[in-house]
Amino acid sequence: MAAPRSLAITSGKGGVGKSCVALNLAVSLARCQQRVLLIDADLGLGNQAILIGQSPDRTLEEVLSGLCPIEAAVLDGPEGVVVLPAASQLLPWRPAALTAAGLAPLRSYETHFDFVLVDTGAGLAPKVLDFAAAADQLLLLTTPEATAIADAYAIFKVLLQRRPDLAPGLLVNMADSAAEASELQERFGEMTRRFLGAEIDNWGYIPLDRYVREAAKRQIPFTLATPPPPAAKALARLAENLVEGRPALAPQGLFAPLWRQFLSSGSPEQAPT
Ligand SMILES: Nc1ncnc2c1ncn2[C@@H]1O[C@H](COP(=O)(O)OP(=O)(O)OP(=O)(O)O)[C@@H](O)[C@H]1O
Ligand SMILES: [Mg+2]
Repeated sequence: MAAPRSLAITSGKGGVGKSCVALNLAVSLARCQQRVLLIDADLGLGNQAILIGQSPDRTLEEVLSGLCPIEAAVLDGPEGVVVLPAASQLLPWRPAALTAAGLAPLRSYETHFDFVLVDTGAGLAPKVLDFAAAADQLLLLTTPEATAIADAYAIFKVLLQRRPDLAPGLLVNMADSAAEASELQERFGEMTRRFLGAEIDNWGYIPLDRYVREAAKRQIPFTLATPPPPAAKALARLAENLVEGRPALAPQGLFAPLWRQFLSSGSPEQAPT
């Protein structure tokens, strides 16, 4: 069975909108008739279950530690999106069961989907990098603030070292205008070309939209609102472009590359035994 396309949503700086974008992009992809698995990989600080107004019994940490099958941990999200939540507390996380035997059911499970979206934590922690580097494609998220841009550049540089074949796109969130976003896209692309010798696709922007926070307060994805707020239209466009634009390399899914990342990053806490 074919592996799904995996896409990690990552940023250098925290609070730039990864979790909101991940959930609402998942909903937008589902509306393009895509079967979507959304994995909350912000270990210990899981937000996805909250954003869809549910409280999880089991979490990604337990699945990766071999304590429960993935089917027992997933939640039914909006528009048929399946959500694998992360814990909202630090759980001892030792993916000892993620040996070849533990991996097989996860690989088999993900073949039921067209897309696996991964909402990562922020920053350069090894666990964040493992998830971000495992995906087929990278959605690098920044806001127009100088600190967010600098941190996006920093994480992109590290990820490129791990995955020179990364297929990245830059998405500008909370932009004040189209002009501001496109100027940032140009500047960022120029910087990565010149100093990293790498191309990053322009995946557009999401406007600063008051409705995004309103929806988060009500624990409902903003893409479900009618009429669709500006941020929802932006994500619908991105979803269509993603579905139409096939990545150059054949999709590998998430779990097998994630296992390889765990092995090669080699932190004793993470290394499968
Ligand atoms: N386009 C937008 N317009 C207005 N507010 C937004 C927009 N995108 C996100 N937000 C708000 O920004 C805040 C941070 O969003 P979110 O939690 O998704 O960020 P994050 O990058 O996942 O944070 P963390 O790094 O802590 O995981 C939330 O209050 C969210 O509602
Ligand atoms: Mg988040």
